[in-house]
Amino acid sequence: MSLFRLDTSILGTRSSTVALADLVEQEWRAATPGAPVVRRHLGETPLPPTAWSAAVSTRFTPPDRHTPEQRDALVLAAALTDELVAADAVLCAAPLYNFGVSQHLKAWVDLVLTDPRMAPGGDKPLTGRPAVLVTARGGAYGPGTPRDGWDHAIGWMRRIFSDVWDLELTVVERELTLVGVDPALDRFTELAARTRIAAEEQACAAGRNLALRERASLG
Ligand SMILES: Cc1cc2nc3c(=O)[nH]c(=O)nc-3n(C[C@H](O)[C@H](O)[C@H](O)COP(=O)(O)O)c2cc1C
Repeated sequence: MSLFRLDTSILGTRSSTVALADLVEQEWRAATPGAPVVRRHLGETPLPPTAWSAAVSTRFTPPDRHTPEQRDALVLAAALTDELVAADAVLCAAPLYNFGVSQHLKAWVDLVLTDPRMAPGGDKPLTGRPAVLVTARGGAYGPGTPRDGWDHAIGWMRRIFSDVWDLELTVVERELTLVGVDPALDRFTELAARTRIAAEEQACAAGRNLALRERASLG
């Protein structure tokens, strides 16, 4: 049993997604004592911004003519993929920024997708492995809200984790995290508190389930 945890928040110790992912991990750990956790925090240590284009450009150049930058990019993509596929379960914490996905997560996914194992149509080495995706947004974009559909991150993240990589995905969502920060949202204080409690309960349940599903997928 092992876990790969990917954090992407740029908000350091104030991060809502890190706090929720901590709950998932805590419950997973309680059910899998001593099992290893491999971590990568893209908000603290982003990937080099030119790695993705360098890796893609290797497709148009014979290997013996690859530049050092291209070789480094391929090595990094393979290392990120090794780290991901070595884990029996995956936990990803990814906030909504500017109505879309964190650029750090996008850079990581783009680079991993350059590895032949992970590209659409590749081997799908993660098929059936359990994963938890934790997300948070400052506002709320569900049905009936004025900006229904403005969250362009969650759909894309589900596509990648569930449909492209075939992970057995559970999603934990927290909304209205900017209540208490943005005075325009003060009228949602009670709703935000309830939403927070619900998300924390879902995170704990997802952590316990992750361990159960991992055990089942390992046979
Ligand atoms: C640069 C930036 C952009 C943001 N853009 C949005 C946004 O478009 N919609 C939204 O609802 N919240 C937005 N937020 C609020 C975050 O989604 C919210 O603070 C969330 O809790 C962030 O998760 P984190 O604390 O784990 O980083 C933004 C926050 C930051 C720092």
